[in-house]
Amino acid sequence: MMAAVSTRPAERATGDLPRYDVGALRTAFPALHQAVHGQPLVYLDNGATTQKPRAVIDAVVSYYTTDCANVHRGAYLLSERATLRYDAARHRVAEFLHAATDQEIVFVRGATEAINLVAAGFARSRLQPGDEVLLSEMEHHSNIVPWQLACEATGAVIKVLPFDDQGVLELDRLDALLGPKTRIVAVTHVSNVLGTVNPVAEIVRRAHARGIPVLVDGAQAVPHLPVDVQALGCDYYVFSGHKVYGPTGIGVLYGTAEALQALPPYQGGGDMVRTVTFPKTTYAPIPSRFEAGTPDIAGAIGLKAALDFVATVGFDAIADHEHRLLALASHALAAIPEVRLVGTAPGKASVLAFTLGNVHPHDLATILDRQGVAIRAGHHCAQPVVKHYGVPAVARASFALYNTEAEVSFFADALVKAQEIFKR
Ligand code: ALA
Repeated sequence: MMAAVSTRPAERATGDLPRYDVGALRTAFPALHQAVHGQPLVYLDNGATTQKPRAVIDAVVSYYTTDCANVHRGAYLLSERATLRYDAARHRVAEFLHAATDQEIVFVRGATEAINLVAAGFARSRLQPGDEVLLSEMEHHSNIVPWQLACEATGAVIKVLPFDDQGVLELDRLDALLGPKTRIVAVTHVSNVLGTVNPVAEIVRRAHARGIPVLVDGAQAVPHLPVDVQALGCDYYVFSGHKVYGPTGIGVLYGTAEALQALPPYQGGGDMVRTVTFPKTTYAPIPSRFEAGTPDIAGAIGLKAALDFVATVGFDAIADHEHRLLALASHALAAIPEVRLVGTAPGKASVLAFTLGNVHPHDLATILDRQGVAIRAGHHCAQPVVKHYGVPAVARASFALYNTEAEVSFFADALVKAQEIFKR
């Protein structure tokens, strides 16, 4: 039985920590307490994936230790327990996103699979030659390539909303790009390179005024800010569990009941059907219709534990802390000659991309790794973004709720040391 979500959960609350005690929080993350290359680990690649709190690891282990059975199938106790935990995870995600009902939550492999599901559905049911799909210039490849595949299959075309050099979407160009042939707008909530927090509610408002649905890629948003899909008004919202302290291999497609019901099934298999005969199959209602085969049960259970963990800290506290780290890091890096910050939008999330003179970001990341500092370098699966700045690659530090001011200072010092090495 799936319950409706009637009240806003505790994500906005500050939680029960009397003050932001980052030291206490760090004790919950076993992976942070290790040395790499003989140096204490300074993990600053949280945009790629986050480390996992003990509660998440324990939840996954406890499923495999005592409750391991398939869901929605067995008439025995273990399967009932597994099913209860899987359904509780769906309810927790519905609360987390403030969805209207649990049925609006589909478990998938990650944000990438969620977008592929929607894009494939649009290709099969809605897109015609000459139709338009509107993306932004700051999309991750996972919100570009699925739409290209859909366009190749149907003759639809992609239009692009650009951003300016600060990394802010040029909203004054939006209305001109929303035309009678626009079938969907797909836009990221937070850029994985620039850190820009996009005004998605405003984009939804303008698209909806023309009857155009909107998909929001929330992969980089959910670790940093509270999301209320009903307040945003979007038709689809997607995210990956592993970027919000949950396991890899589990993710979420939210769709309003109407938006999900408008999509044809994605993959066929068990659990997504009502009746099967050789001439004809009838499909299960949402969300089961989109969950063919055995799902990632342990992943869903781990994701619930991750969302519970985040709620005990509270997004107000997380955002305060991460913005403090971002300000400190931006200030320290701006003082280093030859550092160029990439993405300086006001109110951005704690993602700091940069270049250092002519040093290739991969070389820089390798040198920093020898000092224990893990950052990402490359095009970050967002080649149009780095192309905008005329560089082949950038380095990126991205901060999470467990990073410390001391780590930011160590990172800035490590950068100066790296610069000296490259100058030799
Ligand atoms: N999308 C992930 C990142 O930005 C992998 O690092």
